[in-house]
Amino acid sequence: MTVPIFEVPIVATPHPSTRLSLRPILVAISILLFISPCIHGQAYSAPSAPSRSDLLPEVQPPHGYALPFGSGLYLPSEAQSNFPGFLRPEDFPSAAYCGHCHQEVHDQWRQSAHANSFRTPWYLKNVHLLTDARGLAYSRHCEGCHNPAGMFTGAIDDKATVARPNDDDGITCMVCHSIQQILNTSGTGSYIMGKPAVMVDRDGQPVPGLPTDKQILDHLDWHRKAVMRPLYHTAEYCSVCHKAAVPKILNGYKWLRSFSAFDEWQQSSWSRESPMPFYTKPQQSTCQDCHMPVEPALTKEYAGRGIASHRWVGANTAIPAYFNYSEQAKRVEAFLKEDKVDIDIFALTVEHSSSAASAPFKPTTLIAPLGSVPFSVMAGDFIRVDVVVRNKQIGHALVPELRDFYECWLDFEATDSAGHTIYRSGAINDKHHLDRTARAYTQTILTRRGTVVDRHDIWNGYIRAYDATVLPGRSDLVRYRFRVPIGMTGVHVSVALRYRRFNRTFMEWAFDKKTDDPDPFPTVTMATASFDINTGVNLPHSPDPPSVAVDKVRWNNYGIGMVDRQMFAEAFNAFEHVVKLDPKYEPGYVNLAIADYMRGRYDDALKWIGQSATLDAADPRAQYYKGLCLRWQKHYIEAIATLEPIAQKYPRFRQVHQELGYIYLTLHRYAESKAHYEAVLAIDPDDATAHRWIGADYAALGDRADADKEAILAAQTNADTSAGWVLQRYWRENPDIARKSMPAHTYSPGDAFDDANVKRVLDLQNPPSFIWIEHE
Ligand code: HEC
Ligand code: HEC
Ligand code: HEC
Ligand code: HEC
Ligand code: HEC
Repeated sequence: MTVPIFEVPIVATPHPSTRLSLRPILVAISILLFISPCIHGQAYSAPSAPSRSDLLPEVQPPHGYALPFGSGLYLPSEAQSNFPGFLRPEDFPSAAYCGHCHQEVHDQWRQSAHANSFRTPWYLKNVHLLTDARGLAYSRHCEGCHNPAGMFTGAIDDKATVARPNDDDGITCMVCHSIQQILNTSGTGSYIMGKPAVMVDRDGQPVPGLPTDKQILDHLDWHRKAVMRPLYHTAEYCSVCHKAAVPKILNGYKWLRSFSAFDEWQQSSWSRESPMPFYTKPQQSTCQDCHMPVEPALTKEYAGRGIASHRWVGANTAIPAYFNYSEQAKRVEAFLKEDKVDIDIFALTVEHSSSAASAPFKPTTLIAPLGSVPFSVMAGDFIRVDVVVRNKQIGHALVPELRDFYECWLDFEATDSAGHTIYRSGAINDKHHLDRTARAYTQTILTRRGTVVDRHDIWNGYIRAYDATVLPGRSDLVRYRFRVPIGMTGVHVSVALRYRRFNRTFMEWAFDKKTDDPDPFPTVTMATASFDINTGVNLPHSPDPPSVAVDKVRWNNYGIGMVDRQMFAEAFNAFEHVVKLDPKYEPGYVNLAIADYMRGRYDDALKWIGQSATLDAADPRAQYYKGLCLRWQKHYIEAIATLEPIAQKYPRFRQVHQELGYIYLTLHRYAESKAHYEAVLAIDPDDATAHRWIGADYAALGDRADADKEAILAAQTNADTSAGWVLQRYWRENPDIARKSMPAHTYSPGDAFDDANVKRVLDLQNPPSFIWIEHE
């Protein structure tokens, strides 16, 4: 039994007058300061997490605390604790207490989304929708992320009489700084909470309660040890709340992924854990690097080294507007506008007059890249404009989370020489609603009855009817088609990427707004582009047409957009331009290989990979695609020889483990197959592919129990094909949404529903798999 080294006075909330600045203290103790090295970007290795049953508190819940989901105290949240029973509310030192020394950190945190996660009227209204219908116990799902202090004190229960002094502090300092470990990267609160402690004792044991300032300052090392862990510098730490699923016990249906900024990041070039991305980064950038950058400190104490920002600037414009946090508002807006996304009006296709508006478009040659090539257009022509939207500086998808009620979209407008609108897609109408036919980076989730989940009531979610985003480093290719009016001398084309929180339907519900009331929060324009087209001859931009280097990247992004549109011939054509402009650009040949691989032309793909090898024989991306081609050609042994070294070099590259797992399974080498699927599940415990196949390994190896368990997990994580009929009915009734869901859709005024493409898809028995955005 360890004895605390000092008496610990328990103080409730400190009196405001105890708020003192860190400055004099730090001057006095500066000699003691040990500046811990920055360990941003270090590779994360998962601790061997204790199994769940080891962690279940032994103490019986207080009388009346409902356990409707079995023995887990906090289900449907995945969160666990390393202490028995519940905490007392006063066990959480208040943020004001920490803030009396860490004044600047406190002031930043106060304006952040974390500090306000349990008090905005829109959050409360949303969660009450759930608790009114089913009781507070269900909302433990939400509070494991939005109000952990409430949850760990047993307050999230209909019968609870526990005081709730921490609600207004939401995710308070000692929520984050008491997380001991993560259980795994499954998210939905998959962390282990420890009893909050500001200090450890001589033996390194946490000492609960509030020490005096002197005790902290005399032993800063003991303070640091209590509140800081290497884990906190990793993306996996953030994953516990920035990855979410709706479990069966919440929706009464089946496990459904809702979002995962973490997996998007982990598979992107920012993590440097996968060779698959089209572009590479010189170093890893974690969530903290972008959302907690070291800022020059305003207070002198941190001068010279700065503080990790506790603003978590992201895209939340609502919280700062609602609480009048002007500095945070400024930061969020500036962040969104800071060159995160690139819009390139890349190409034109012109169809000379006389065709009827509804006639199918007969593409002439592609005029691209715009600005570098001459072309001519006549009044009365139909023009198709190809716009490339590139996610350039976002470490995850554009709008990684909650696209069901956050609204980000492309506002496209073509005006004639008299300034009149010829075609607009993405306008806000006079009732403040976004044009339904716009290219939007949003999600439409349907309930089982086929109605739209429009109050973020995700526990009613059943299937997605629309889902679009731009993954990191990827490009979305959006096509618009319209006619140049007779008698006009030119057309001005402009494109803007806009973002508002929230969509109008949610706003009106959450704030009891009337249809005529203006939006309560600003719409931010994240990026713009424009281009002028004259009737007659258009010459390349002068005096500065885009350079060859710029045009190479433009073609490359166009090709990437084509891959995601599943138009592989066009992608191939684009990548051919890339290598023509720069024959020494090795990734260009790999991209050509990808375009062929995707079309099933494995021999051709291997030829391109051979060509890439003359420039860089060790490129892991090329080797990976080579392995895939060999696998499809059934050269399994060669495929293994190609892929195994990549798996070793990139142990956290899930796709290579998936492939190897499958090849070994095919070869009846079950133990090796199992090992690779286990590697996938260590990266994402909910990986549908791994659950789909690992059961066969277990069964073949004679492990019936695990095979049975996997059968259940496979059914949970894989898509429910029988849900398709709800989707088809919705699409029939909402052809505009159905059209938008086709990867190869062209946006145009008055699109008719009897479009052959839509019809073809609607006639299929099951919904096409490609409307799901896969994180690849
Ligand atoms: C008596 C003043 C005082 C109080 C109260 C206090 N701290 Fe500190 N804390 C310090 C000082 C001084 C440092 C060292 C600063 C430095 O990094 O040089 C520090 C360091 C830290 C660090 C950085 C550790 C590291 O290794 O980089 C964290 C995190 C922290 N405190 C969190 C908290 C939290 C959370 C609370 C409230 C529960 C709190 N502190 C209360 C004075 C205080
Ligand atoms: C895995 C953690 C997690 C769970 C579980 C969770 N949320 Fe959230 N929630 C978040 C995160 C993270 C955000 C911020 C998303 C963003 O801004 O991109 C958020 C944002 C929200 C917002 C919008 C807040 C704003 O200011 O924009 C609402 C409303 C909300 N959640 C409601 C709920 C409800 C209700 C539940 C339970 C049914 C729930 N959440 C479950 C993590 C979670
Ligand atoms: C959402 C979780 C979260 C919350 C809430 C939070 N912190 Fe932190 N804090 C972190 C993480 C993560 C780091 C390490 C950041 C990094 O890797 O650079 C950190 C770092 C710190 C540091 C060290 C800063 C430096 O640059 O040396 C201090 C001090 C600190 N936190 C104090 C606080 C205080 C005080 C509060 C409440 C007012 C608070 N934290 C709230 C997650 C949190
Ligand atoms: C205990 C759960 C939890 C942890 C741990 C956590 N977050 Fe959050 N985070 C949330 C919730 C909940 C919200 C949304 C709150 C709201 O808007 O109501 C949020 C909001 C944010 C936002 C603002 C989003 C926006 O729309 O502007 C950013 C950025 C963010 N978190 C980054 C991080 C990073 C980086 C880490 C890791 C260092 C982290 N978070 C750790 C729960 C958490
Ligand atoms: C390379 C920089 C970068 C990295 C790395 C990064 N982010 Fe972001 N994040 C951004 C930018 C830029 C935005 C604003 C654009 C947007 O909302 O998509 C953003 C937005 C967000 C938002 C608000 C999203 C919204 O639209 O409401 C959350 C939450 C968030 N990030 C969490 C994370 C987490 C968690 C990680 C780590 C797994 C992470 N970010 C890694 C740059 C980054």
